Amino acid sequence: MSPSLPTRLLAAERPPPAAGALRPEVAALALEGLLAPRKTVPPILFYDAEGCRLFARITELPEYYPTRTERALLTASAGAVAARTPVGAALVEYGASDEGKALLLLDALRDPRAYVAIDTAAEALAAMAARLARSRPALAVHVIATDFLRPLALPPAVAAGPVLGFFPGSTIGNLEPPVAVRFLAEAAATLGTAAQFLVGIDLRKDPAILLPAYDDREGVTAAFNRNLLRRLNRDAAATFDPGSFAHRVVWNDAESRIEMHLESRHAQTVQVAGRPVRFARHETIHTENSYKHTPEGFAALAGAAGWAVREKWCDAQGWFALCLLARAAP
Ligand code: AVI
Repeated sequence: MSPSLPTRLLAAERPPPAAGALRPEVAALALEGLLAPRKTVPPILFYDAEGCRLFARITELPEYYPTRTERALLTASAGAVAARTPVGAALVEYGASDEGKALLLLDALRDPRAYVAIDTAAEALAAMAARLARSRPALAVHVIATDFLRPLALPPAVAAGPVLGFFPGSTIGNLEPPVAVRFLAEAAATLGTAAQFLVGIDLRKDPAILLPAYDDREGVTAAFNRNLLRRLNRDAAATFDPGSFAHRVVWNDAESRIEMHLESRHAQTVQVAGRPVRFARHETIHTENSYKHTPEGFAALAGAAGWAVREKWCDAQGWFALCLLARAAP
């Protein structure tokens, strides 16, 4: 990356090894879940290059309402968010795979000082920084290539001024509630006591709307789910036949979450990094939870992490909400 760009790569992910080589950190993550009595694989492993491409297609599907609903909400509320944010604030985005949503805010904020993008996808971050250097040459852009669940520090120049945190996309719904509370508490420490935090949440609704959003007619979400197995074949020396696993989506009402699974079509044994993993017929790998919060439930989650909901914007159908959090009074 050219040093003349107003961009700093703080902690780049190691470059991926050649195709077919074992990535020990991927194999360790996969084996931990696959050798458990109820098989799981952490959803962070969805997002290799092909997984990112498939997820981008999901966000454009007619059945997948969250992205377009949140975008419309952001467009409508960006001015109000800006009015509640100090002049010269830095925008700090968690899970920033592209700048599309951030630009809606950056264009509304009064004289934003900097944009900090945090994500594991180092290459996507670098491409985004290069695009922003061309389209917004006056904006200081910092990218931090890391898992945002890990503790991190803002660049000192950013931490010294006002900050607006941003966690769009309802990605918070992919975190187990105790993990979501830990993440929100950690973000409070990172962003600073005076910061505000704008969080997008997908709301609880009729399963007749939810289920097709995760099981679309074109089969893009099924391909996204099965791509996990291809990734494990490549990065964890696994021998999965993706065609022998069916995409399954379940609404778990008691837990208020959509679950994605890969169901073995027959009894089989798969090798993963030299270890045999046995599947009974119909046994599943639980690949993702997507929690659908109620406004009250999310306020309680945020409250447990020391945040209070200062303002909330919701679409007319009550499907999605943008919540502006500020530190709760002690
Ligand atoms: C990234 N995340 C918010 C998506 C969701 O809706 O839970 C991931 C996804 N999985 C299947 N479709 C979309």
